[in-house]
Amino acid sequence: MKRMTMKDVADLAGVSKTTVSHVINETRFVEVSTRNKVLQAMKDLGYHPNTVARSLRSGETKTIGMIVPDSTNLFFADIARRIENYGYENGYSVILCNSDNNIDKQQNYIDTLISKQVDGVIFISSGESKADLQRLSESGIPIVVADRVVPLSLADVVLINNEEAGYIATKYLIDLGHRRIACITGSSELNPSMRRVEGYRRALSESEISVPEEYIVQGDFQFQSGELMMTKLMKLPQRPTAVFVLNDMMAIGAVSAARRLGVDVPDDVSIMGFDDIALSSLLHPSLSTMAQPTEEMARLAVELLIQKIAHQDVDHENKKHVLNAVLIVRDSTKALGG
Ligand code: RIB
Repeated sequence: MKRMTMKDVADLAGVSKTTVSHVINETRFVEVSTRNKVLQAMKDLGYHPNTVARSLRSGETKTIGMIVPDSTNLFFADIARRIENYGYENGYSVILCNSDNNIDKQQNYIDTLISKQVDGVIFISSGESKADLQRLSESGIPIVVADRVVPLSLADVVLINNEEAGYIATKYLIDLGHRRIACITGSSELNPSMRRVEGYRRALSESEISVPEEYIVQGDFQFQSGELMMTKLMKLPQRPTAVFVLNDMMAIGAVSAARRLGVDVPDDVSIMGFDDIALSSLLHPSLSTMAQPTEEMARLAVELLIQKIAHQDVDHENKKHVLNAVLIVRDSTKALGG
């Protein structure tokens, strides 16, 4: 089938090709009646403007790339949806790339976004990402990093104070009377997990509570690892009375393991999660957790990126924008002996 051209649209609408171009690119005012004739002709012919040609002229693709480590994780699904909403409201299409916690895949997506000359990238790393960000930065594409820290020389960063959030969650369990408090961490090389463990240790140390090393077990931020590590903790000779799990996906796995082992949550063991994904309030028992400000994080990341896109010619000093997580108390935690 012949591909419709701007000339076909002009002929059908009874106007010049220049007028059609002004309507498509909004480069000059066109009488409403004329504009409507052009739009109707485009619709009748099924004509779609050549966006590549247009972007070559304007230097913009009105497209933002977003890379997340695991789109099946409801935390990333939520923040990606919010970023897509904000981007769309500001006239940008958002290309979502899922790196599946795989550095090679992350590298390929960075190359893809560079080749597509997206106007900017919002990036959540899957691990070691300095080289990837360097390449992106050298391509001249503005970057904002969310959630996981990278060197400020490369990008603005929007994240929460993970150490403080880890401290608040653990202090809450201590204030419930728990002394045997274990922790199921995320992947050790990821800074959010490391900082939360630091906060966990600070709260215990402040209350002079010792931490047997077998109480700190490593997951990978996915369901199964939460189930596996909780099983391991429940089989310890002196099992913990509370477990701080460093994300809700693993905490759901931990609740499932406790149930399978006949351990009641929270009567026998309190479970505390992190993220406050949509499922957490719907679980039975509903999950106590640390709520991440995903709405604020998404809005700030998009606003920062759009500012960087608009002012690429202006020297810009990258900053770290630190937000705070909030304690959400639900039914999966209770006072010791309560
Ligand atoms: O659930 C995924 C975890 O990794 C979240 O806590 C988020 O902070 C990300 O870093």
